[in-house]
Amino acid sequence: MNRRYRKTIIAGNWKMNKTPSEARQLIDELKPLISKAKWCEVVLCVPYVDIPVALRALKDSRIAVGAQNMHHEESGAYTGDVSASMLKDLGVKYVIIGHSERRAYYHETDTLVNQKVHLALKTGLRPIVCVGETLEQRDQGVTLDLITVQVKAALSGVSAEKLRQIVFAYEPIWAIGTGRTATSEQAGEVGASIRTTIRKMYGARAARSVTIQYGGSMNAANAHDLLAQLDVDGGLIGGASLKAADFAAIVQAANQ
Ligand code: PGA
Repeated sequence: MNRRYRKTIIAGNWKMNKTPSEARQLIDELKPLISKAKWCEVVLCVPYVDIPVALRALKDSRIAVGAQNMHHEESGAYTGDVSASMLKDLGVKYVIIGHSERRAYYHETDTLVNQKVHLALKTGLRPIVCVGETLEQRDQGVTLDLITVQVKAALSGVSAEKLRQIVFAYEPIWAIGTGRTATSEQAGEVGASIRTTIRKMYGARAARSVTIQYGGSMNAANAHDLLAQLDVDGGLIGGASLKAADFAAIVQAANQ
């Protein structure tokens, strides 16, 4: 991380875990543990139905609430879906876009990700855009090329002014939920490559202010080393965000 130029952001991604009552409990446990997080922004990306509870529980704290997805159209006949403006109206600040689980299970493409990025920005939500490669792609040596395509596609048509609202999360698919973390060098290398892509599109000054997180089995034990990389400006944390002490320890590592 490099706090001189950009914000460090630690975001929890609860995925499909925690009922509203469990959410309240976890947040009550978490709040006192991370009240001193001055140097980094903390976000909890919770299931849709937990959002009102989370917002209420976090009202007097600096922890922001995020969603894990949103629809790519503003409104309409999309039974079961949730729009960007609904999230904004509730008080949501961030939204995860293009998580690998959504790309894999719901066939979300780079084009759809770009559509969602535009709508999130228009609505005033900060997108956390996920990019990452499979193990097969890593073994084939195409990681950096592939991620460059994902980043370029996500940013297609996005103005330099709006770019500042976007957070990227590099999440190697082989490291998500597997307990197998990328080495800090691997995370740093891809982070640097994402920044180079942004620099080529928007110039050095804009690129240097973008927060680029790492995600994939990040935990209390490896957070410090990962965050020591210049281009790892935070984390998107799944499993370890479901336990108050583990998540707080990661926030602490980012706060040092
Ligand atoms: P993990 O998930 O920390 O459980 O690997 C990260 C993510 O999918 O965002």
